[in-house]
Amino acid sequence: MSVNMDKWCEIAKSNMVKRPQGEGRLAGKITIVTGAAQGFGKGIAEELYKEGASVVIADMNEPLAKEVAASLGDRAIAIAVNVSDEESVANMVAQTVEKFGGLDIMLSNAGVVRSGPIAQMERKDFDFVTNVNYTGFFLCAKYAAMIMQAEHEADKNAMFDIITLNSKSGLEGSNKNFAYAGSKFGGIGLTQSFALELCEYNIKVNAICPGNYLDGPLWMDPEKGLFVQYLKAGKVEGAKTVADVRKYYESKVPMNRGCLPLDIARAVVYCVEQEYETGQAIPVTGGQVMLN
Ligand SMILES: NC(=O)c1ccc[n+]([C@@H]2O[C@H](COP(=O)([O-])OP(=O)(O)OC[C@H]3O[C@@H](n4cnc5c(N)ncnc54)[C@H](O)[C@@H]3O)[C@@H](O)[C@H]2O)c1
Repeated sequence: MSVNMDKWCEIAKSNMVKRPQGEGRLAGKITIVTGAAQGFGKGIAEELYKEGASVVIADMNEPLAKEVAASLGDRAIAIAVNVSDEESVANMVAQTVEKFGGLDIMLSNAGVVRSGPIAQMERKDFDFVTNVNYTGFFLCAKYAAMIMQAEHEADKNAMFDIITLNSKSGLEGSNKNFAYAGSKFGGIGLTQSFALELCEYNIKVNAICPGNYLDGPLWMDPEKGLFVQYLKAGKVEGAKTVADVRKYYESKVPMNRGCLPLDIARAVVYCVEQEYETGQAIPVTGGQVMLN
């Protein structure tokens, strides 16, 4: 590991006394959003920026991440990261401290899907999903916690948040989509366990479980999108076209629409403002999935 985390922890700690203030519900909050070059991450990052946060647009797709950061303004920067690579995650957190002075909110959003029947799922695809969704969340939480624990030493009243974009597939099984659902169920186990450990440092850890973002690129991409993947996998009985698959998913939502980034950004703001909630998995699904 070539990143000297001790050094960045010391810098973050010493900066706690001179944190910038500003306007908005998240004024002065230094925030990393992984996977923020497109989709949910991008939309959420835009909303958090509007609320006054300083935002790191962290993504594997560096050119797109730079475009998003530039479109926001001078409280946003782009950082290239692969969340399944430990050195890369350490580097992302170090660069965030270098640029903004510390870290208040880690939003572990980057995620991938490979679906299909069990007999046809290749080991490499299963590992890919697990490495990004499950191990990636662990790595982001690990390096965020190091900085936040150091910051806590300097300011015992400050509150911090580690939030993971989980899924309704982390709350109930998903037919022919087990690699994804398994990684998301695991993410909730990590959330609860991190929450218990990090409570004493005022670090809250919560998972937000969105319904389907049917208008987002994860679903709509004409080659790799879920509509196409699910059609090929025969996940929706009788579906002959992508439109059939979409109609099926829309009909499953009591509120009759897909989830949008603003719906999720509101849940993120709730988690940050709420000082008496940790270890939760919060469904934002238009009534499609309800907690028992
Ligand atoms: N789209 C949905 O319907 C839906 C529903 C529930 C939960 N989610 C979750 O929301 C999160 C975001 O989903 P989305 O639909 O916006 O996805 P998306 O595919 O539109 O965007 C994902 C982003 O993550 C980046 N990324 C992928 N692998 C990465 C890695 N290893 N390191 C860094 N960046 C990486 C991609 O470059 C991309 O910009 C995921 O965790 C997903 O599981 C999505």
